[in-house]
Amino acid sequence: MSDNSGSGFDRRAFMAGTAASTLVPLTARAATQGSDAAAAQDPTLPVDVTLRVNGEDKHLRIDARTTVLDALREHLGLTGSKKGCDHGQCGACTVLIGDRRVVSCLTLAVAAQGQDITTIEGLASGDRLHPMQQAFIDNDAFQCGYCTPGQIMSAVACVKEGHAGSDADIREYMSGNICRCAAYPNIVAAVKQAAPDIMKG
Ligand code: FES
Ligand code: FES
Repeated sequence: MSDNSGSGFDRRAFMAGTAASTLVPLTARAATQGSDAAAAQDPTLPVDVTLRVNGEDKHLRIDARTTVLDALREHLGLTGSKKGCDHGQCGACTVLIGDRRVVSCLTLAVAAQGQDITTIEGLASGDRLHPMQQAFIDNDAFQCGYCTPGQIMSAVACVKEGHAGSDADIREYMSGNICRCAAYPNIVAAVKQAAPDIMKG
């Protein structure tokens, strides 16, 4: 028996589209409505995405399921944000979206459109390091350095959130960022050093 009913309705295509659409999160489908309606039905089709990264608009044509982390690393060549666990567990991929710190491995690129994404590459002002970057150097707050970009981005947000008032606060609000080298005491010292400068603006 044919899948075609004769009325132009293709049951096989309908079933494929329905199954595919259940796999794409609502945020992704909403963000791709309009120009990429077909791609919203089929996550294997590329979509046009514009990400504002470190103050510049970046136009990409990517799989709708691409995360911010993969967009940064694989499509934009910004490899400062690290992939540790790829499961939202380690914090190595932390970037700022607006003023909010997010694990970019669990954030879809299509859902980050229209928002300012700041990565470790966008933190310094020309040759002048951000106070948190300088504080990490001054306090030897790393060994292998793999977790460091995520630690620094998270630390900047931690201070701006008002969660750097005590060692206990810093430890608590930085607890989403794992350091396999256990540089934690030095990281706390770095956050305390940079906090006044960041709060001054
Ligand atoms: Fe994103 Fe570990 S790589 S939380
Ligand atoms: Fe090595 Fe943190 S410095 S994991």
